[in-house]
Amino acid sequence: MNAIEIVMPNRLTDEQRGGLPPWTYFNKELFQIEQDELFRRHWQLACHVSDIPKDGDWTTFDIASERALIVRGKDNIVRAFHNVCRHRGSRVVAGENGRCKSAMVCPFHGWSYNLDGTLRAVPKAKTFPKLDPVTHGLVPLEHEIWHGFVFVRFKPGPQGSVADLMALHETEASAYKLDEIKPYAPQTRDVLEVNWKAVRDVDNEGYHVPIAHPALYDLYGQDYHDGRPHRGVSRSEGRISGVSPRFWSVRNYVKHRPDMAHLPNEAKERWVYLGMFPNLVIMLYPDLIGFYQELPMEVGKTVQRMAYYAPPGDSRQAKVARYLAHRIDRVTGAEDAQLIKWSWESMQSSGFSSMILSDLEAGVRDYHDKLRDTIPVAALVDEPARGQVETINQTLRAARD
Ligand code: FES
Ligand SMILES: [Fe+2]
Repeated sequence: MNAIEIVMPNRLTDEQRGGLPPWTYFNKELFQIEQDELFRRHWQLACHVSDIPKDGDWTTFDIASERALIVRGKDNIVRAFHNVCRHRGSRVVAGENGRCKSAMVCPFHGWSYNLDGTLRAVPKAKTFPKLDPVTHGLVPLEHEIWHGFVFVRFKPGPQGSVADLMALHETEASAYKLDEIKPYAPQTRDVLEVNWKAVRDVDNEGYHVPIAHPALYDLYGQDYHDGRPHRGVSRSEGRISGVSPRFWSVRNYVKHRPDMAHLPNEAKERWVYLGMFPNLVIMLYPDLIGFYQELPMEVGKTVQRMAYYAPPGDSRQAKVARYLAHRIDRVTGAEDAQLIKWSWESMQSSGFSSMILSDLEAGVRDYHDKLRDTIPVAALVDEPARGQVETINQTLRAARD
């Protein structure tokens, strides 16, 4: 068999190492590489332990054609498994969350599993070879609980533990008592008809805040800062300005915020965002905690999942502040949705070649650099010939390593 002839497109010059080239937002072969290299091999936030407070409570998390099932056992331990029945691969539990008393029963033929994942019973068991409860139990999934947030990883990857990745932010995160937060608003999943990277691009910089997010600008004023990433985790913060806000939600939020006594003084006055490569942002506000996450469905379709949690403290004032912070966030999200769409559309325009990035958009460049490091083929200016993206990616990686 003849070896495949690889046509190597041009590499980016240093000056061009700004934004990713447009082809990377549309290429289905690259999308498949991203699914494996990024979403199966990097930590994914599945839920918070407070989403499954009682034994028998379960929740699911799907990404990159993988399915996770997180369940709290009779021993109060939170475990993660592939949501894949050992018989013929059906989902063992259907839907986003639920509760089962002592067993999870597969809806296909009725195999049942204990809350610790072991196989419990099989209808007409004598028609099968002998099945071992542990060997033929649900397949465990690598997971790590960081301050109550349950992270899963479907395949081994380049990251260390979540605690290692977050080490720089450990002291700050500890102050928020994240183990004690409780679900606030119902989780949302917004469908965006764009490539997932277009969502990240808009989110990865605060240069657009003064123009695109008037209410957020009202809240922060000039005092917003994006930090550079460390181990793929970046920190941004906006300090609550309190200078005569024009928007009623911001005005009332600034005016009525309670003193969140468990927080150090600086944390009472700022909104903090911890972004974790490749698709997660955790929000730490004095009165509201949350996260958002892009779930790539197709090359041009992304689900943005958002979850909010209430920190300790249930005074009326705290509830009002939480409501207003949530409202400001939802307005910001709607404003971003339009920008994300236009940004994505521009990638197909013959009038757009690549981004021109300012130092205030270093977050976009850093993020694209990380993508290019992880998937070297994404550094090429021109789209590779059909069928060659994976081969070229492997060639570039071998040459580098
Ligand atoms: S696939 Fe689950 S019982 Fe058959
Ligand atoms: Fe934005």
